[in-house]
Amino acid sequence: MVTIREEKAADIAAREVLLDEACGPSRFAKASERLREGRVPADGLSLVAVDHGRIVGTVRLWHVIAGPGCAALLLGPLAVDPVHRNRGIGTALMRRVIARARLGGHRAILLAGDAAYYGRFGFTAAPTGELWMPGRYDRDRLLALELRADALAGARGLIAATGKIEPKPDLNLLIAATDGDRRPRRARVQRAA
Ligand SMILES: CC(C)(COP(=O)(O)OP(=O)(O)OC[C@H]1O[C@@H](n2cnc3c(N)ncnc32)[C@H](O)[C@@H]1OP(=O)(O)O)[C@@H](O)C(=O)NCCC(=O)NCCS
Repeated sequence: MVTIREEKAADIAAREVLLDEACGPSRFAKASERLREGRVPADGLSLVAVDHGRIVGTVRLWHVIAGPGCAALLLGPLAVDPVHRNRGIGTALMRRVIARARLGGHRAILLAGDAAYYGRFGFTAAPTGELWMPGRYDRDRLLALELRADALAGARGLIAATGKIEPKPDLNLLIAATDGDRRPRRARVQRAA
């Protein structure tokens, strides 16, 4: 049975393998990625689908502004393991993450994706006519769902990342850990000699 739950730190490696398989290396070249890189996703809005203990689906939402002063979320990537597609997992992830965003008081969700798929969840290109993303993208694929009436009315300008900056690993700690790894090995060699 497939369950949807919040992503945990232990899921990250499996999620990245899934995204590599589902989206390929081009995923890092997407305009949406420019709004995600180096940022932390919105609290409680990273979900995974799990089947018999295996991560088979993923979706995350990120804080952005849709032009000056207009807070919104950016959705993506959404991906389902190719073996598990057409079982409703993508739909379940979408419905759950939208419901959570609504409950959390968020006003609108943006994404770059196929209207033929995302239209079923209420996403359209109508509210995004005066918005643009950093980098290259297909304008017809810039879609939005307003969670509050007219949340994007008058929204105009660049979509920009506003999420918390991802913490960087502490270089001193990494060097200390590497150094610590080396010392016992040297000691072992000396003892053996
Ligand atoms: C898009 C995706 C998440 C859908 O996941 P899923 O679990 O198979 O979706 P569901 O089972 O809920 O829905 C399947 C339906 O969506 C349709 N569908 C899937 N991708 C579609 C697309 N790009 N355009 C239009 N319809 C699409 C299927 O034909 C099927 O239609 P049906 O309900 O009429 O039979 C999955 O195909 C995927 O991971 N694709 C690769 C990654 C991707 O493109 N992600 C989105 C942008 S990064």
